[in-house]
Amino acid sequence: MDELTTPGGGRAMTSEEMVRLCKDHTMYTWAATGAVDPIPVDRAEGVYLYTPEGERILDFNSQLMCVNIGHGHPKVLAAIERQMKKFAYVYPGTATEIRARVSKRLAELVPGDINTFFFTLGGAEANENAIRTARLYTGRQKILARYRSYHGGTNACMQLTGDPRRLANEPGMPGIIHVMDPRPYDYSFGTSDAEMADNHLRYLEETITYEGPETIAAMFVETVIGTNGIQPPPQGYLPRLKELLDRHGILLVCDEVMCGWGRTGKLFAFEHYDIVPDIVTMAKGLTSAYAPLGAMGVSDTIADHFKSNVFWGGLTYNSHALSLAVAEAVIDVLHDEKLVENAARMESVMLGEMERLKKKHPSLKEGRAIGLFGMLDIRKNAAGELICPYNGGHPAMAELAKSLRDNGMFTFVRWSHIMCNPPLCINEAQIKEGFEIIDSALDITDRVFEG
Ligand SMILES: Cc1ncc(COP(=O)(O)O)c(C=O)c1O
Repeated sequence: MDELTTPGGGRAMTSEEMVRLCKDHTMYTWAATGAVDPIPVDRAEGVYLYTPEGERILDFNSQLMCVNIGHGHPKVLAAIERQMKKFAYVYPGTATEIRARVSKRLAELVPGDINTFFFTLGGAEANENAIRTARLYTGRQKILARYRSYHGGTNACMQLTGDPRRLANEPGMPGIIHVMDPRPYDYSFGTSDAEMADNHLRYLEETITYEGPETIAAMFVETVIGTNGIQPPPQGYLPRLKELLDRHGILLVCDEVMCGWGRTGKLFAFEHYDIVPDIVTMAKGLTSAYAPLGAMGVSDTIADHFKSNVFWGGLTYNSHALSLAVAEAVIDVLHDEKLVENAARMESVMLGEMERLKKKHPSLKEGRAIGLFGMLDIRKNAAGELICPYNGGHPAMAELAKSLRDNGMFTFVRWSHIMCNPPLCINEAQIKEGFEIIDSALDITDRVFEG
């Protein structure tokens, strides 16, 4: 062991050392290690990250759209300490006060008849258990999911996922049927919400007929699509979808891993759309990523089924006390600091900034946001064609991403899109600071705009 690897012993690492050792000894997600250029992070507070050398970076994506309350909140630290002093872990077959308190709180907060929860370590495990629950409950095997979706990196969730991350993981678990999304990927056609919902539901019902409704257990939807476009559903679509699925005895699972916990300006995104799903899955914002935790919430009818039927699932870290203590503190912070209300209020600030940039930059096709769930789309010509093909890149977008990073912003640039998903504690001045950085980066894509 040299001084750098002696716990608590050596001097603090430089950025260069951190990056080198992390790349030498760890694998990075969705990447070839040789190609990654990780940001060295020493500490984080509020909406900012800091490198070991003190460079301040604005977190415009809440990391993976998960640090909803912002970084470094002292109330969460205190809650971890309090729980740690009692115990950190007991096995899932026990009853604990923190499990009792958090599950009761969730039953109060999650709308409708969703009052029973199964705790996991993250979103993928919550979805895995939703697949299991739907199959055990209905006695059916097949699952419907949409193409423009991401549902997690585990084996079954990779098959649920519609986006290109699935492709290298195929073939996997059989029985997943992908269906089109209501909104086309290239949305330049000007189709109305009602037409999109009509077309989609007609096609979906035909698919259900061909597949055999008696074989289909559930349909998964991201209530508001996350990484694949930050796309709210067309108006009127979700209640009609729920009615269609109900008619065929198919459960609706709303994956709220990314869009839940205040991100859209309501605690759960489905609250915007006048539905309650049969199953909801959540993670990320539930603990604001201060500790790993996911949950699957089920309706009373499904919960009743498992009172007399075995739930054939388990996890060593199910209902982990430290993660639950974090969740409780995070829910308190969201409530006390009115962060969901702040997300709703900041939506118009973000939309205002997007509109300002749209007037100035011909390459900006559209900006949209629901709460603090936002995205910018970059186009290559006046006809509105996106600058990158689906699942493709463009040198100008790579340059734009570098410019954001060089000017002190962390966010994701994916294909033709720039993510705008800051922590829910962000204020107006900090949103404007972010859009100033984006403003100058858009000069790069303007230069290749074909007119
Ligand atoms: C909508 C959605 N579902 C599921 C997941 C998987 O969650 P996790 O990475 O915590 O397993 C994600 C992660 O980004 C997500 O965005």
